[in-house]
Amino acid sequence: MTVNIMNVDYSTKIPNNVNLSEDRQVLKALEGWHPGYVDWWQDMGPEGFQQSLVYLRTAYSVDPRGWAKFDYVKMPDYRWGILLAPQEEDRKVPFGAHYGEPAWQEVPGEYRAMLRRLIVIQGDTEPASVEQQRHLGKTAPSLYDLRNLFQVNVEEGRHLWAMVYLLQKYFGRDGREEADELLRRRSGDEDSPRMLGAFNEETPDWLSFFMFTYFTDRDGKMQLHSLAQSGFDPLSRTCRFMLTEEAHHMFVGETGITRVVQRTCEAMREAGITDPTDIAKVRALGVVDLPTIQKKLNLHYSLSLDLFGSEVSTNAANAFNAGIKGRYRETQIEDDHQLKTSTYPVLKLVGGEIKRVDEPALTALNMRLRDDYTQDCVKGLLRWNKVISTAGYDFKLALPNVAFHRAIGEFKDVHATPDGLLIDDATWNKRKNDWVPSTADGDFIASLMTPVTEAGKFASWISPPKVGIDNKPGDFEYVKIET
Ligand SMILES: [Fe+2]
Ligand SMILES: [Fe+2]
Repeated sequence: MTVNIMNVDYSTKIPNNVNLSEDRQVLKALEGWHPGYVDWWQDMGPEGFQQSLVYLRTAYSVDPRGWAKFDYVKMPDYRWGILLAPQEEDRKVPFGAHYGEPAWQEVPGEYRAMLRRLIVIQGDTEPASVEQQRHLGKTAPSLYDLRNLFQVNVEEGRHLWAMVYLLQKYFGRDGREEADELLRRRSGDEDSPRMLGAFNEETPDWLSFFMFTYFTDRDGKMQLHSLAQSGFDPLSRTCRFMLTEEAHHMFVGETGITRVVQRTCEAMREAGITDPTDIAKVRALGVVDLPTIQKKLNLHYSLSLDLFGSEVSTNAANAFNAGIKGRYRETQIEDDHQLKTSTYPVLKLVGGEIKRVDEPALTALNMRLRDDYTQDCVKGLLRWNKVISTAGYDFKLALPNVAFHRAIGEFKDVHATPDGLLIDDATWNKRKNDWVPSTADGDFIASLMTPVTEAGKFASWISPPKVGIDNKPGDFEYVKIET
């Protein structure tokens, strides 16, 4: 192949760096799928704004030093494409039973079903989040935020394309059927929901959106990192490029929450409020009080922990042994990469107490990835707490205990406080509104969600960003709204 895979071919209807114009069969399959995708985008993508000009970045290369071009685009005209990171020469399977063998360029027959399942699960999350976020455009706190929402949305759409490409190129007819199914399921639908719990929850307001992009997109980051290690090279290359896009989604979450916390602290100071837990007083200022931010955080973090599956899992062990799904930063870990004898500490419920129990490292891979995730989450909390302490307030946001509010894994059948104290059903029911947002909390946040569409202006409850997208000035018109 002589094409320059760093650059993207925009001459075909589907931009790509995988030489689609010479891969007629796959091009035909993708072109056949495209109209259904556009229909899905019109039905389930952002509500309204489809005729608006949005200042979006589009990938034109996979060179990490500069792959994006910014311009005004109508979302339905966005150039969704197939982009894989460059092929690494002589890449080897970096873990599992095939450790050290050449990475596979085709699907190994014995792992076909497993691989397909993992790709479908990943693929299913991408359109799901677009569906969950489709109502948010009409309450955006600024044009800057509106643009960021749409950027995230079009890129999740592109991630769906990425998974569909793999399905259609490598899995024949089954793959084409799965690709169609990805357009058929709907987030929160009773008959045909999305595959994972957190992707069927609502994203009712912008605080939830920032929590989602911080916590749930970060689960995506961890999953993509593990799949980027895959011995199946096309999957690895796809995920590596997706990760460069994903970084922006988490930036939106982290800075979004920072700006909410910032604005709350400023408003409290201006009003001379000394007690940040005086909720009524703080809310009267038109900002979100810190205890409510903590509740939202509790909810989204616990929902995201569920995405890692059971702490002890033979599926995870099988995928690792097969060389299909590795660990976070697998190639930087110093061990045998086969986990033949090692153990890993897993939090378990033992005799009514939460205890660390050593399990074979191979079956504890979900737990390990979840621990890596939690460590990654902590960074944002440090930043948010810095904002609070700098403003002179004695209040700390914290991640709730792993046993808190869980629906999957070791703690799904018990109730625990955010501090990890096990409690009975009655206590849970009495106190849960102190820990996860109540209807009244939701109503209050909803009352703040009035749209701000004047360039350079922001809603009462959020601070402006420090810098603009693509270094644009504060009053830049990120979205030219057409009505
Ligand atoms: Fe994604
Ligand atoms: Fe994302």
